[in-house]
This record gives sequence, C-alpha cells and structure tokens, in this order.
Amino acid sequence: MYPLIKKALFAFEAEKAHELSIAFLKLAGNSPIKCVMQKWLACPQGVPKMVMGIPFKNPIGLAAGADKNGEAINGFAAMGFGFIEVGTVTPLAQDGNPRPRQFRVLEAEGIINRNGFNNHGVDQLVENVKKARFDGTLGINIGKNTFTSVENGKSDYIFCLNKVYNYADYITINISSPNSPGLRQLQYGEALDDLLAGIKARQQELAIQYNKYVPLAVKIAPDLTEAELVQIADTLRRHKMDGVIATNTTISRDSVQGFMHAEQQGGLSGKPLQHKSTEIIARLYQELKGEIPIIGSGGIDSVENGQEKIAAGAELLQLYSGLIYHGPALIKQLVQQIK
Ligand SMILES: Cc1cc2nc3c(=O)[nH]c(=O)nc-3n(C[C@H](O)[C@H](O)[C@H](O)COP(=O)(O)O)c2cc1C
Repeated sequence: MYPLIKKALFAFEAEKAHELSIAFLKLAGNSPIKCVMQKWLACPQGVPKMVMGIPFKNPIGLAAGADKNGEAINGFAAMGFGFIEVGTVTPLAQDGNPRPRQFRVLEAEGIINRNGFNNHGVDQLVENVKKARFDGTLGINIGKNTFTSVENGKSDYIFCLNKVYNYADYITINISSPNSPGLRQLQYGEALDDLLAGIKARQQELAIQYNKYVPLAVKIAPDLTEAELVQIADTLRRHKMDGVIATNTTISRDSVQGFMHAEQQGGLSGKPLQHKSTEIIARLYQELKGEIPIIGSGGIDSVENGQEKIAAGAELLQLYSGLIYHGPALIKQLVQQIK
C-alpha cells in the first residue's frame, strides 16, 4: 500500500507532501481512522527499555522536525513509535526561511532541508501536547528564535525549558540545526559550557518546583572534527547531561555529489547520512563509555543499519527520512527486531 501513497505524495513538492501528511495524521489521530490505522499497520508493542532514567515502551522513535508543533502526535502514535519527539519549538512563532526549502535527493534517498525552525511558538505546542493522547514517551525539542543573537541564545532555551518542563518526558536542547544562523557555535567551548551550566541549573530548580526530574538530551551535528567531538563529550559529562542525540543533518555533500538538488543549501538527511552518523555514535560511545546514553539518528532505513547504530553504542533510535522513503512498515520491522 505505501508504494502507492508514496507515489501520490512524491507528485507534490516535498514540503507540500509533508503538510498533506500532517493534515491526514492530525485528522486520523483524532477520529476512528486511528483504530483502523493501528489494526492495519499492526505494529507490535516491542521491547521496553529504561533510558535516561525513564521508560520507553520500545526503542524506536520519531525524530524532531516531523511534527514541529505537536499537531499530529496521536496520528504518529498509531504507527507504533515507542517515543515521539516534537519540535523544534522556539519561544515565539516564526515563519522560517522562504520556500521552497525542502528537497528530495531521490537517487540517494536523501532530503535536504533549510526550514529554519518554522513553528507556531512554544505556547501553541504546549496546548497541542496537553490535548494529545500518547501512551509512549514524549520528547520536546527546543531551540532559539532566529532574531535572538547566539550570545542571548541561552535565555530562549531557558524560556522554552520553563514552558515545556511539566509536559515533557524528556527535553532536547537542539544546538545542531545548520539552518538557524550561528546556532552550531553553541556546540563549542565556552558557549557550550555556559549554555549547559545555565540549563542544568534551571533543570534542578524545575525538578524541585514540579517534584519530577525531566531528563535533558543535547542534539549534536555530524559535522564535527575529532577534537570538537572529544571536547563536546567532556562538556556533556561535566554538566551531567542525561542523554545525547547523534546526529542532526549534515552540511556535507560528499555522498550526493552530482545528484539532483545536491547543491541546495541546508541539512542533508536520510541514507547519505547513515554511515557518518553511525561513525559519530561509535566515536562518542568510546568517549562517554556508557556514562551518558546515546540516541542514534541519521539515515536509518532498515533493521540492519538500525542494528549497526545499536552496535555502535546507541540505546534508542530515531528516524524521519526513512519514514518518508519506506513508510510505516519500516517502523514495524524496527520495533519487532531492535532490542
Ligand atoms: C525536513 C526536516 C526537518 C527537520 N527539522 C528538525 C528540527 O526542527 N529539529 C531537529 O532537532 N531536527 C530536525 N531534523 C533532523 C531530524 O530530526 C533527524 O535528526 C535527521 O533528519 C536525521 O535523521 P533521518 O536521516 O532519519 O531523517 C529535520 C529533518 C528533516 C528532514
């Protein structure tokens, strides 16, 4: 069935196809279609796992960016995900970059996007999350508004942290989108140190205020030198972060040279990112030595390469582009076979 749906969706420009999918999942998730979907997809519960001190009903999750506003959580839930990460959300609503800003690199099963954190703002996301009914684990991914300078970025993250804390099972600090100018600078040196110190201090206060500890994960880029990766791992450990998501999209075009749309600016995801993100996971695992759990993301499109990321040191997996190219059957296979 999915090959037919894919053919119809791929007749549209990439972001339009995404909007249509979200509209369908929003409708389906809040109507009896959800039960029909669940029956038809017949995804098993999978193998439960404790990671970052919280339970996951299975280790397969939806990566951030697919449901930026948390509008279609119930629809995505019907596909069998153990966890869903909504966002990236920013303090205020923003349009993102001009369209077109999403491109399929068909020959390579990749996607290039330069969305630039288009979202309806954190208040709207919280309202949507409050209404959702999902029996899995919900992550909320937070970022900064484009008009906020990198130097003042910390205040945007803390603003969002305050707003989402009580509604998230875990929170992701996204400092690795290549489409928000300067954002990746927050991954390095003093900027990272200062950001994580501030966020961690606020987490401690919120934990007391709400009488619950919500773990914090940091999402990193795949485009890191060896020295940068070692330094990031050390900083994550020093600030006792609860998790790390590796990786976001890449700015490299090495694996898509000569393909249509390869020259478009933005972050590349999907199959062309697969090996690069697995290498980062493996290297990160060597540095962290299991002290901080790794959530693997980047080009997962089969049980085999999902296993590769687990073998490299990931405890949970997230996907986005693979769902677009392979449909919900991929989730079922992963949930069935990844432990
Ligand atoms: C269209 C699109 C939008 C994305 N938006 C976000 C985002 O807002 N925040 C984020 O942390 N990651 C975002 N990502 C990155 C994904 O969450 C994921 O880490 C990356 O695409 C690698 O996984 P994949 O190869 O399975 O897609 C986006 C990816 C795509 C394709």
